[in-house]
Amino acid sequence: MDRNLALELARVTEAAALACGRWVGKGDKISADAAATDAMRRTLDSLDFSGTVVIGEGEMDEAPMLYIGEKLGNSSQPKVDIAVDPLEGTNLCAKGVNGAIATIALAPRGGFLHAPDMYMEKIVTGPAAKGAIDINASPTENLTRIAEAKSCNIEDLTVVLLDRPRHDKAIAEIRKAGARINLITDGDVAPAIAAAVDGSGVDMMMGIGGAPEGVLAAAALKCMGGDMQGRLVFMTQEEKDRAPGMGITDLDKVYTCEEMASGDVFFAATGVTNGELLNGVRYFSGGAETHTIVMRSKSRTVRFIEARHYFEHKPLY
Ligand code: FBP
Repeated sequence: MDRNLALELARVTEAAALACGRWVGKGDKISADAAATDAMRRTLDSLDFSGTVVIGEGEMDEAPMLYIGEKLGNSSQPKVDIAVDPLEGTNLCAKGVNGAIATIALAPRGGFLHAPDMYMEKIVTGPAAKGAIDINASPTENLTRIAEAKSCNIEDLTVVLLDRPRHDKAIAEIRKAGARINLITDGDVAPAIAAAVDGSGVDMMMGIGGAPEGVLAAAALKCMGGDMQGRLVFMTQEEKDRAPGMGITDLDKVYTCEEMASGDVFFAATGVTNGELLNGVRYFSGGAETHTIVMRSKSRTVRFIEARHYFEHKPLY
């Protein structure tokens, strides 16, 4: 695939972040999401590829744009699958609190695990502790192994989890083991990426969150040489019945990064509100500043792009 696609993706997430950035703190997550989706959809269609959305805003009958199966792009090659979350952390954006991002990943056709509208159990760490995590092991065992790999004490480690009752047992065990915890209200993609960045202050992200967000995180972790395991969580019989149609025969399978995002993968994310890794959109007279991470698994190049956008020359904003 053309390496320039990575930079094109930065334009896509910048556009989404600039659009929903206007909705930060306005208490309207639906309009914020719609603004991000509309901007992302518009930008994606100008790219040189033949893309199919495999992780998007929902099934065709429930999402007007970026629905699963939607075709995008203006050229016949390369043929890619697209995973998007135009606004990851809609509540965070609506409340104006940290952690909302606009994000996208590309893989060669067939490269992404199909996991619409369901949950996934996840465990993530960075390159320094690659190989140390095991989703079947207890939080204490995982922390012990990460501390060993990083030559530090468990007390030095910070774990991020969504603040949900389903995580109460894990939280109690992590506290007993001595690690620090950062409980987040929403948005588990950004801390998963942060776990792979040295000095971000995140050593492990774990717990049950959205499966589409899990696949996006896997794409990012693969580009950064981090480690992630995921296991789909089937909450209802209906979800179990859907599994064969999604190509899933083993409901308990533990997926690696590579199995969730295979081939030459591209990933980009732009901050909407501030976060550990990315600053949110900041407006100034006549324009705005964005902060984006963009990367590709083949080259492992990780770029942080600070961009200044002047609206006089971008009438759409
Ligand atoms: P949005 O769809 O509102 O952006 O929420 C995203 C998210 O917080 C994910 O980051 C997380 O994986 C998932 O929702 C958690 O789901 P739930 O709120 O049902 O626990």
